[in-house]
Amino acid sequence: MSKQRTKLVVGNWKMHGRLADNAVLLEAVAQGAGALPANVRVGVCVPSPYLAQTQALLDGSRVEWGVQDVSAYTHGAYTGEVAAPMALDFGSRLAIVGHSERRAYHRESAELVAVKTQRVLEAGLTPIVCVGETLEEREAGKTQQVVGVQLDTVLAKLSAQESARIIVAYEPIWAIGTGKSATAQQAQDVHAFLRARLAAKSAAAADVALLYGGSVKPDNAEELFRQPDIDGGLIGGASLKDKDFLAICKAAGAVGALSVKQ
Ligand code: PGA
Repeated sequence: MSKQRTKLVVGNWKMHGRLADNAVLLEAVAQGAGALPANVRVGVCVPSPYLAQTQALLDGSRVEWGVQDVSAYTHGAYTGEVAAPMALDFGSRLAIVGHSERRAYHRESAELVAVKTQRVLEAGLTPIVCVGETLEEREAGKTQQVVGVQLDTVLAKLSAQESARIIVAYEPIWAIGTGKSATAQQAQDVHAFLRARLAAKSAAAADVALLYGGSVKPDNAEELFRQPDIDGGLIGGASLKDKDFLAICKAAGAVGALSVKQ
């Protein structure tokens, strides 16, 4: 029997948006979020140069914000890197780590992702640790093995208490930006597996939020969010359109409210 958890919807803007578009989007999201039920938590992870703008426009709203990556170091001669404490200076509460685009294009290893997770926790932010398999790995029946190793490598570096402070996002690589979402059942099966893995680490970690990401849209969000182990979504493309993003947040609220009534 799954416990009732708050639903969480986080936008991952990736490398999109400029000052003028951001202002329109952030204002619309801040305003729309005000009308959402209390059981929905909303966040956006923006490109770092826009953190000050994001803070100025979201401060005092229901919407949290953060970054899409952090350095594995706190400071030093690491040209181009952004450290977790720097994100904190601009009011960030969230930091994505281990997104598949970082793992693939920047050759980030599971070990590096684990270190970044530690840096995020030390800075007092919440890491959203992404895991996911390629289509080839899924077709070879290796999904659990791949996401299991990705998660376990992170958990191995964390205390039981720290592991209860993370968020995990399952993002099958074949579903990201492809318009081809995992089915609700496929996603639920992996989430249940990840939940068991977290529970094996510590009782508190069993309750961390597990987000699904990969082509979440207004028309498939509710079915995904209705699954017992799916606590919300990490939203790429659809987070750039205020109406779509808010519709997804609303779907999360509707599902949360349904579960409370049951
Ligand atoms: P998508 O991206 O919603 O555009 O598929 C999700 C993500 O990569 O976080």
